[in-house]
Formats: sequence, C-alpha cells, structure tokens
Amino acid sequence: MSCYTLTIASLKGGVGKTTIALNTAFAFARRGYRTLLVDTDPQGAIGLSLAGSLRDRSGLAAIVRAGQSPLESCVQTKVSTLSILPVGAVHALDIDDFCERVQRTRSLETVRDALAATHDLIIFDTPAGLGGVTRAAIEAANGLLVPVQCEPLSLRAMPHMLELVSALQQRGSRCELLGVLASMSSFRDPVVLASLEEVWSLYDRVILETSIPRDPVFLKASQAGVPVGLLSKRMPPVAAVFDRLVGELEARMSTNESEQGDDEPIRLVD
Ligand SMILES: Nc1ncnc2c1ncn2[C@@H]1O[C@H](COP(=O)(O)OP(=O)(O)OP(=O)(O)O)[C@@H](O)[C@H]1O
Ligand SMILES: [Mg+2]
Repeated sequence: MSCYTLTIASLKGGVGKTTIALNTAFAFARRGYRTLLVDTDPQGAIGLSLAGSLRDRSGLAAIVRAGQSPLESCVQTKVSTLSILPVGAVHALDIDDFCERVQRTRSLETVRDALAATHDLIIFDTPAGLGGVTRAAIEAANGLLVPVQCEPLSLRAMPHMLELVSALQQRGSRCELLGVLASMSSFRDPVVLASLEEVWSLYDRVILETSIPRDPVFLKASQAGVPVGLLSKRMPPVAAVFDRLVGELEARMSTNESEQGDDEPIRLVD
C-alpha cells in the first residue's frame, strides 16, 4: 500500500483539530496502519496534549533549521504502529521565521518523502488559520480533513478554506477535500443542532456521516495527556467514534482502483 498523507486544518482556532488528529492517528494505528502524526503547530499542540517527554525532543524545527534527519526526529510511541514527529522547540520570537522556512524550503514534502516508505499514513496537525504552514501542509497532502465546530462563527469561516483548496488545486495541488467533519456536536443544544443542520445542508456532498460529540471526556483525556482510547482500562464509549471515522475515511481514501481490486475479507482464523 502506498503512503497516504492527510492534513487536518481549519481557519478557525480551537475547533478540535489537535484532538481529532491525535485520536484519529491512534485509531488508524490500532487498525494496523503504520501511522506518523506530525505536529506542524509552532506552539507544539501535540506535545501539549500528551504526557511524556515530547516537549523536550527536537523535531520539525530542527529539520527545518538544521537539516536534521526526519527519521531520527520521530518518536516511537508505546503503540508499535504509531510514531510522532513533534514540532520541537520554537521560540515565541521565531514563530514567523519557522513558518516562513517551512513554506520556502518545502520541509513538509521532505518529511513526507523521507518517511513515506516506512508508513501507510502520515497525518499533519496544523496551526489555526490559512497561513504558510497550513498551506504547506495542504500542498504536501493527498487529502484534507476540515473539522468544523457546530457553531455559527466556525461555519462562516468554511468558505475561505474551500476557496483555498480550490485555488491550490488550480495551481496544481493534488490535495482533495476528503471531508468536512462536524466537531463538538450535541443534539441537545438547539444552537448546535441548528448549526449541524446548516452544515448538513450546505456541505451535503462532503460532510462525513460521523460527527465528534462534545464530551467532557476529551478534557479529561487532555488533562491526563492521552488519547481518549487510553484514558482508562475500559475504553470510554466516545473513543469508538474514531473507529467509525477511520472506516469512513478509509472508504474515501481508497478511490484508487487497483487498491480496491486487492481488497478482500480478512479471515479471522486460517
Ligand atoms: N469533542 C470535544 N468535546 C469537548 N471538548 C473538546 C472536544 N474536542 C476538543 N475539545 C477541547 O477543546 C479544546 C480545543 O481543542 P483542540 O486543541 O483540539 O483544538 P484545535 O483546533 O487544535 O485548537 P488550535 O486552533 O488552537 O490548534 C481543548 O481543550 C480540547 O480538549
Ligand atoms: Mg491544535
């Protein structure tokens, strides 16, 4: 199987990108995909979301600044099929410089090309907005997943993202909009429900069936610094939503005819 590169991006901040990137990467890895989660956010969103030593590691910043090897910059997690490329240390004063270099030196394409042979899936988590890093991550990807928070402001930002994707496609980008994902949904809140209905009607063709519910367990997981699936020995029920999401994304990712031809049931017992 060739490596698929998936970018998760949104114009609006705080809509659940990093939460979705981490939990989706974990769900893909548990499904057997050799998965690499790349943190492109200079604020180190993935490192902040996970307990452990990620924040002290060098990572994308050292690749961009000093030409460090992408392979050596990856951190193996306790799940054998999941590794993480942290962003590393980016001083607050150097954020603009980091973003400019990522775009100018096409570092994300370098990372993708160096690690594609050893991975089935590379996921880029991006900073909010449509700045240089997000744009570079879209340009380096096969597919784009756009989380949209079920609230009016977040919805109004969607057309800008769609405009960017089609403008980049016109310039030769091969990145396709894989799906729009309703995030922090709740069927009990009338404003959220109205926003969900708006998303369904406006983005009918691209909206994913799966939506990520608003659930306090996500806050507990980020406090503990783990994916929701690892919060306790008994998996919280909401973690299953990411398995459903993976199933839906897999179907959209495998539009390649030859891969579909190879697809056969997997026997439980030989
Ligand atoms: N489905 C959810 N239910 C409840 N809380 C959530 C959910 N998804 C994310 N959160 C919480 O919302 C906050 C923002 O989430 P997250 O950091 O994933 O957003 P983001 O889009 O990556 O933000 P940024 O734009 O700053 O990178 C976090 O505290 C996270 O724990
Ligand atoms: Mg984030």
